[in-house]
Amino acid sequence: MMSAMNSLQRAEAADHAAIEELERLVIVKSTIYTSGERDPRDPPERQPDQGKLYLMGHDPRLPRMPERPTLFDFYRYRFGSAAHMLQSARLAQKNGVDEKIVLACLLHDIATSGFIRADHGYWAAQLVEPYVDEEVAFAIRYHQVLRFYPDESVGYRYPDSYVRLFGPDFRPEPYLERAYRHARGHKWYMSARLLTVNDLYSFDPNVRVELEEFTDVVGRHFHQPAEGLGFDASPSAHMWRTINWPTRYL
Ligand SMILES: [Fe+2]
Ligand SMILES: [Fe+2]
Repeated sequence: MMSAMNSLQRAEAADHAAIEELERLVIVKSTIYTSGERDPRDPPERQPDQGKLYLMGHDPRLPRMPERPTLFDFYRYRFGSAAHMLQSARLAQKNGVDEKIVLACLLHDIATSGFIRADHGYWAAQLVEPYVDEEVAFAIRYHQVLRFYPDESVGYRYPDSYVRLFGPDFRPEPYLERAYRHARGHKWYMSARLLTVNDLYSFDPNVRVELEEFTDVVGRHFHQPAEGLGFDASPSAHMWRTINWPTRYL
């Protein structure tokens, strides 16, 4: 009887139920999770699945998200550490930049922390585009590109960390060079550039910034859908659903 259990027993029972549920399920990774580790053209390796059902909803290994998830719910339940984004947003605020750019700083790396790394500026911009000003999406999209190109007028240098990470001979792909030139001539160039200026590379692991510090900024500039992110039929709703339910078979 549930009421007779203490909280530890309840937690153990819940774990047990989750393990039993897992044993009844077939969970298949999307091609993109494994592409490179294996050749995507190879036939999939499948365990025998007699009597098992393919996962078509919530993954029992993950914390369950609320029915109408908010932006902060994704930070809490699906994204990796947000410390870098939070510290960048706080720095931007300290530097007195427009609140919209503070929001852009808060959002700029959500793709690397919760979705897909390659072209993370583009993915993050697309995720938030239906809910923010065009200028915010622009800044997020192009910060990735502008990171590779210095701008002495605002004191932005090519990051030392990039030399370490990518080697001294690394050159951005031609499409990035073209995107850079496009951004350079755009009326919102400085918005994207300010994001790179406040994009803290060596952030302080001892400084703790809480999401709640930005509740008002998000409230004013991120238009949360009443149905919850993923369920509002926006052009990026399916992407939020995929983050919520990353292992659904279809
Ligand atoms: Fe970034
Ligand atoms: Fe960043």
